[in-house]
Amino acid sequence: MKYASIAWTSVFVAGAAGAVAFGAIAHSLKPDVEITAHPKAQVEKVAASATPAPAPARKIDFTPSDRPIPDDDFGKVVAEGQRIFNDPAKYAKAYVGNELRCASCHLDQGRKPGSAPMWAAYLSYPAYRSKNHHVNTFAERLQGCFRFSMNGKAPPLGDPVLVALESYSYWLAQGAPLDPKIAGRGYTKIAKPAQTPDYHRGEAVYQARCALCHAADGSGQRARNGASAFPALWGDASFNWGAGMGSIKNAAAFIKGNMPLGQGCTLSDQEAWDVAMFIDSHDRPQDPRYTQSVEETRKQFHDSPQSMYGQSVNGGAPLGSRSTPNGGTLRAGGKL
Ligand code: HEC
Ligand code: HEC
Repeated sequence: MKYASIAWTSVFVAGAAGAVAFGAIAHSLKPDVEITAHPKAQVEKVAASATPAPAPARKIDFTPSDRPIPDDDFGKVVAEGQRIFNDPAKYAKAYVGNELRCASCHLDQGRKPGSAPMWAAYLSYPAYRSKNHHVNTFAERLQGCFRFSMNGKAPPLGDPVLVALESYSYWLAQGAPLDPKIAGRGYTKIAKPAQTPDYHRGEAVYQARCALCHAADGSGQRARNGASAFPALWGDASFNWGAGMGSIKNAAAFIKGNMPLGQGCTLSDQEAWDVAMFIDSHDRPQDPRYTQSVEETRKQFHDSPQSMYGQSVNGGAPLGSRSTPNGGTLRAGGKL
């Protein structure tokens, strides 16, 4: 891990093409989809016409308002959930094993449509998940992100951390229709790549468009007080092999819509796929479902072209074979 050796201002000026400071970038993350005020009226009109027109494309008809969190006993827990979401290493320390924030991958504090926002997630559970073959409650879904994306431990059901995150998500979702197909849920889909994603093309995109913030070695950058400013994309401080972002398809969709930060949708689809493949071709903490054999773990949990786990890249050892157990380190000092 290293500390930023360049002044923050130069990072921003060069990195975000003259964009201002980080807060300004974060706050400019506005939905990039059209918002309609009266979607129901439109649907009714379509239904009533003699020759039904094709269903209109789904539009974002809900976005959480900027209203203040209520100043009461419920609001206190909502506010705690928001704090955890933005800084889990501080407010949910016991359950976190890396330097990421929930908001590292669920942008704008879990509000941004197309960035797996918490309001859409909240109203989409209970739901069956093929990842664990049963119906998951929302609380159980939250546990999953601690175990995999945060490379930590699942807080027990009923734990104040889960109650706070659930309260925050529910508060964001208030007023939304109870519809798991609500527009804005999940990461905005990306079209299949024209060419098979390629490590070397991805590396070129990474060096040109990402390394300035996430560092050439993917370890991210810290502010002077040690807080992670630009999160790690691989290595010990990043998500583990079981995380959703370890799927090339998920990473490509996230990257296309959101990265470089503040310049979402400026990469071509192919570039997003290539750079996702590059990132997901690096070692990271072990999959907590590890079965004592990389090959067997791949067979059980990673049997898909979207996962590089257990694959050899550029003649190296199979990915995952150098990863230590969950929460451990890949190498002394985190160097690979
Ligand atoms: C490394 C990136 C990353 C981090 C960090 C992360 N998540 Fe996620 N999260 C994802 C991805 C990717 C998905 C979608 C996974 C999938 O579709 O399999 C997801 C999905 C979710 C969902 C379900 C969304 C839906 O619509 O079904 C919830 C809820 C969630 N995350 C909560 C959290 C919380 C709370 C934290 C912090 C404790 C967190 N996440 C941290 C990447 C991340
Ligand atoms: C201007 C700085 C900047 C640039 C350039 C940038 N990112 Fe990011 N990236 C961030 C920040 C900051 C976050 C976390 C978002 C937050 O905390 O609000 C992030 C989050 C991520 C995440 C999810 C969190 C994690 O650690 O896995 C991925 C993946 C990612 N970026 C990939 C990329 C890729 C690929 C590129 C190049 C195409 C890129 N980023 C360019 C600043 C940047």
